[in-house]
Amino acid sequence: MIEKINEYISYIPAAEVPISSDVGIIYGKNSTYLFDVGSTEECLKFLYSLKGKMQIVISHFHGDHTWWLTRHRAGEDGMLPNDTLSLTYEPVKYEKLYIGKGTEKYLPDGEIVRESVIIWDETAPSKLEDQETGIEAGKGRNADGDNLTGARASSGDSKNISQALKLEIIPMPSSHSKGSLALIVNDEYIFMGDSTYCRYIPKKQGEEDYAEYNVQKLKEQIDLLKSIKAEKCLVSHEKRFVRPKKVVIRQLESIYERRKPGENIIVLNKNEGEG
Ligand SMILES: [Fe+2]
Repeated sequence: MIEKINEYISYIPAAEVPISSDVGIIYGKNSTYLFDVGSTEECLKFLYSLKGKMQIVISHFHGDHTWWLTRHRAGEDGMLPNDTLSLTYEPVKYEKLYIGKGTEKYLPDGEIVRESVIIWDETAPSKLEDQETGIEAGKGRNADGDNLTGARASSGDSKNISQALKLEIIPMPSSHSKGSLALIVNDEYIFMGDSTYCRYIPKKQGEEDYAEYNVQKLKEQIDLLKSIKAEKCLVSHEKRFVRPKKVVIRQLESIYERRKPGENIIVLNKNEGEG
């Protein structure tokens, strides 16, 4: 099921079996922009269903975010016993793929984003199946009650209403994964992927699992988030996908406060590693 955030942003919610990221969908006039591609059949069907150009931003290299852009074998970790798509599925066609440094090992066709990349387009709400956007021509408000800015058709047909669409892809400091990217849409929404989460350290024999934050990365992430104008964070795998940025910052700061002098990592307690 596709959930709508506003008249030009939607998403496919994350899943747990198989583990799959949220898939952000931004409808533009020139292209449809995706943030991650997920790993469920629903995600694949959606990718096949898209008409026109598609540009994809990948938050980080983990399989639940990249699955449908990589090749898999039947029975491989993450595939379900009844999956029949593994060897035969058609590669997803896209115009451009943006990745963070390090992700090229998994997605060699991607363009590595080392500093901010800005893409300009116009929103294309008419591509949404559900046209009940709450917008009436000339009223100039979106479903959130915010004022709309930018180009506006004069025909009075709500399907033709469009506004400037600004997408900014930035490297995002993260304890969870190297080479994480975030996507900022119209200086309002920040797709964060898993970048606010800790790093999980796999269990060694005779040891317990543990999870940690990197003090320096955490500080850089908090400072960067504070410097960004957008106020809504979209955090993958969270039940409430859209969260106020101030809440996200507060959570990160509460972890940062636990740092100890001279130590570069903050080790989380057992069962605490939910980010
Ligand atoms: Fe991840």
